[in-house]
Amino acid sequence: MQKKKIKCIAVFTSGGDAPGMNAAIRAVTRAALANKVEVYGINYGFHGMIENDFWKLNYEDIGGIINLGGTILKTARCKEFVTYEGRQKAYKNLKERNIDGVVVIGGDGSFNGATCFSSEFDIPFIGIPGTIDNDINGTDYTIGFDTALNTVVRAVDKIKDTARSHGRIFFVESMGREAGLLALGSGLACGAEVILIPEVMEQEEELDKFIQKGIANKKTSGIILVAEGYKTGGALKLAERVKAKHPDIEARVSILGHIQRGGSPTAQDRIAATRMGVAAVDSLLAGKKNLMIGLKNHAIVEVPFSLAEKAFRPINSEFVRIQKVITRD
Ligand code: F6P
Repeated sequence: MQKKKIKCIAVFTSGGDAPGMNAAIRAVTRAALANKVEVYGINYGFHGMIENDFWKLNYEDIGGIINLGGTILKTARCKEFVTYEGRQKAYKNLKERNIDGVVVIGGDGSFNGATCFSSEFDIPFIGIPGTIDNDINGTDYTIGFDTALNTVVRAVDKIKDTARSHGRIFFVESMGREAGLLALGSGLACGAEVILIPEVMEQEEELDKFIQKGIANKKTSGIILVAEGYKTGGALKLAERVKAKHPDIEARVSILGHIQRGGSPTAQDRIAATRMGVAAVDSLLAGKKNLMIGLKNHAIVEVPFSLAEKAFRPINSEFVRIQKVITRD
């Protein structure tokens, strides 16, 4: 069968926003326009696709956005796309504009939606991983991770001032959903005494050891970095447990929340987004579909959507090991 020539594409962001999404939108648009391909932006992800919320993108629309956090195309988590009727409406809106291919920037939930759509309709999708959680299998990196990592580190550096000054233990909770990569990376970078992530259960013993050691040595300050998805509860629960056992310890909780999703993207995020954006357009032009653009060992790779699932993403065991090595006994 002859390959269909791509003349018009659409791009949208979906799921949680991540710093660097704008840089990816910019790269997709520029790469398409450079190939004489028209580009539509879709507002609010799959929701906008269903609600016919499209706009034509040109060079001036994506000028000056590489350094902006959030997403100029807005984003949403859409329930209606789960239904066949929702996807049918979306298809009709894409077809009306003669859109031959779509780039979706988001997480694995967005890729699942795209896979489902492509199995029913004749419009190819290519994905770009964008989430601060870095929890997608098949790619070493997701756009937004480095910026979020730096946000956590800067926040913890400040919290440490108070921890030291008052002799307090801080339970700092990072985002990451069920994944611990953000907590693990930022914990290493800010010198956390203990890092608690869902993937490694025995780390809780490290917390007990740290508390006991602190009591024995009269060392009362420190940072316990907890991933929000930690299995026996987040920072609040853990702090309560410690306070109940050791009423003399001054423990405080700091849940960093959505500051981790905002801010100007770091150079690493901008470069990754730009590389992935151009690669996504290359893949569409080459007639490919149903795959995510990823980075493996610093090189661009194409990963089938079926493998780009959250559940398969392994934790960096070297990071876990070195955290143990550098923790003082
Ligand atoms: O997936 C990104 C993320 O920020 C997670 O780390 C977090 O659990 C979730 O989104 C929060 O979602 P919302 O912004 O919808 O509350």
